Amino acid sequence: MAGRAELDVLLSLAGRTATPLPHPVPVRSGGFGGADGLARFIVQEGIELLVDATHPFAPRISANAAEAVAKTGIAGFALRRPAWESVSGDRWISVADMPEAVKALGASPRRVFLAIGRQEAHHFNAAPQHDYLVRSVDPVDPPLQLQRVSYVLSMGPFHLEDEKRLLTEHGIEVIVAKNSGGDATYAKIEAARELGIEVVMIRRALPANMEAVDSVAAALRHVDQVAFPAAKRGV
Ligand SMILES: NC(=O)c1ccc[n+]([C@@H]2O[C@H](COP(=O)([O-])OP(=O)(O)OC[C@H]3O[C@@H](n4cnc5c(N)ncnc54)[C@H](OP(=O)(O)O)[C@@H]3O)[C@@H](O)[C@H]2O)c1
Repeated sequence: MAGRAELDVLLSLAGRTATPLPHPVPVRSGGFGGADGLARFIVQEGIELLVDATHPFAPRISANAAEAVAKTGIAGFALRRPAWESVSGDRWISVADMPEAVKALGASPRRVFLAIGRQEAHHFNAAPQHDYLVRSVDPVDPPLQLQRVSYVLSMGPFHLEDEKRLLTEHGIEVIVAKNSGGDATYAKIEAARELGIEVVMIRRALPANMEAVDSVAAALRHVDQVAFPAAKRGV
């Protein structure tokens, strides 16, 4: 939407990442104070359209967005990228949440790649028998209470050959991943398939109750045709 001169776009970030990527639109950062806080912000700033384009594993802000849209009566919709589907050659174990993922690793020691970000990595303190490689954008803080853990800091997009090298160099036997969908982090799933590595795949919870589209192109069409048609944009 950055290229649309007639739209005055504001991007909201939670403020979790120390050095976020630059964006071509104005950015604000930090929580609003729940759905009521977000609704107040919408009114104060004269926002006319809310697009929930958050990560599929960030359920609170999506629920708050849906509630704030309902409360204020502004237009709103969600951009939800489709979940990955397993294909021939994948060795997925599907689980509902982090505690189930911990259990799915089993009792015997294994070399585990945690590709789930830093916020929920602490769940794996409950399974200290394994050897972990943890990847996140910012450091895991506090560090995990594990004997055998190493960390790699990096931000996607990731590429197949790099992912294969990482998995091979660390002798990874199982990956824990969220079913985020999209291309930026899919290379590890492809790499696991090619190397015959198991993936403990965390399913998505049910999405917040808001009209949704599944691609950026569809979101732009939705803005033009439904949420914010030309007459309202003054063009
Ligand atoms: N969880 C993941 O796996 C993951 C992965 C990649 C990126 N992210 C991104 O990291 C952010 C935080 O994730 P989370 O798991 O902590 O989300 P969450 O559990 O849904 O949100 C927790 C709280 O953080 C604040 N928040 C979240 N997103 C915000 C935003 N875009 N703008 C302003 N405040 C926001 C809200 O605080 P208030 O209630 O005070 O408004 C929200 O209640 C999200 O924007 C998400 O897109 C998450």
